[in-house]
Amino acid sequence: MSDVFMNTYHRLPVTFTSGDGCYLFDDAGSRYLDFTSGIAVNCLGHRHPALISALNIQANKLFHVSNYYQCDTAEAFARKLTAAAGMEKVFLCNSGAEANECACKIARKYSLVKYGEGRHTIVSLKGSFHGRTITMLSATGQERFHTNFGPFTEGFRFVEPGDVDALKTTLDSSVCALLIEAVQGESGVVPQSADFVGAAAEICAKKDILLMFDEIQCGLGRTGTFFAFESYGVKADVATLAKGIAGGLPMGAALAGEKACDVLAVGDHGSTCGANPLAAACGIAVLDIVNTPAFLSEIAEKGAYFMEKLETLKPMVKAVRGKGLMLAADLNVEARPVLEKLLKRGVLALSAGEGKTLRFLPPYIISKDQIDAGLDVLRGVLAD
Ligand SMILES: Cc1ncc(COP(=O)(O)O)c(C=O)c1O
Repeated sequence: MSDVFMNTYHRLPVTFTSGDGCYLFDDAGSRYLDFTSGIAVNCLGHRHPALISALNIQANKLFHVSNYYQCDTAEAFARKLTAAAGMEKVFLCNSGAEANECACKIARKYSLVKYGEGRHTIVSLKGSFHGRTITMLSATGQERFHTNFGPFTEGFRFVEPGDVDALKTTLDSSVCALLIEAVQGESGVVPQSADFVGAAAEICAKKDILLMFDEIQCGLGRTGTFFAFESYGVKADVATLAKGIAGGLPMGAALAGEKACDVLAVGDHGSTCGANPLAAACGIAVLDIVNTPAFLSEIAEKGAYFMEKLETLKPMVKAVRGKGLMLAADLNVEARPVLEKLLKRGVLALSAGEGKTLRFLPPYIISKDQIDAGLDVLRGVLAD
């Protein structure tokens, strides 16, 4: 095992050297069916021809240009993304945590300018995950992320998902924004209830609290709509994306609608490599493919098929959950040994939550045959 990286990841004993569609290949040439998409990043699978072509064309023109100048590719991407998102403006950065940082800065300034001091609290949900910077750990509603790194950023408060009464009391006059994952990913693929999201939208609109959705894992088509929150019939004031946005190149985005799109002024925020042209070129290719009604409904259909097949694993699995191609199965045993056995048999999956949940985030191009094949392997592993 490598001793050069800091010990932040428990890396499995496999070295991937290439990929093709929904498969990865290791250094011995063995093939693995990928139900992870690099944690929702390789949304179009590996080596997609449209991404290779977009990247090659851009690489032959320009790798990077500072945000002090205009860039045609970045601008074309930003226009396509805001149109797809139904938002007015976007800030482009490099990761999900960075996108959420931007969202929180927008919320704080929106409220400060309009209402003055003392209205800076951002409410997020218990069980949420919003990233690894100190401030995004502060926004993350899971105790296990709150050790070792304090003191944390002030002004974050948590509410239990689904608890409308608690939401009503928590969204008081000190609050500038509510940050929600429509489907919580890291804590185990947990969709919010329609009642809760509906109430959140109503209270936020009434009190002029910004409704912000972290769509970093559940957005960009993964649940069968462009944003996962769309299926609740609500509109976001701010939404963040990252992970699959550029099909495998690092990129994050904080998008804002009419209310908040002009909050940030020159000098308020920045990111040296944000709006990188290579990532933007790939982002255009991703949007061209993903953001069509036919492609999105295919994701929903394949997700329903995946879910149906997962159901047949009961009672070897206790419960199944999910939306579109974002799915989970609660096991009766620890997930880690199951993941290791799956790996040995050529299937990649993820864990989630506190250790007994398997999470599946396959590429959008997965076929029903591949779903069958991967879940047959899982059935065998669970039966052992
Ligand atoms: C919902 C959500 N928000 C934020 C993040 C942080 O994204 P990044 O790792 O790109 O900073 C993640 C990453 O898993 C996530 O799932």
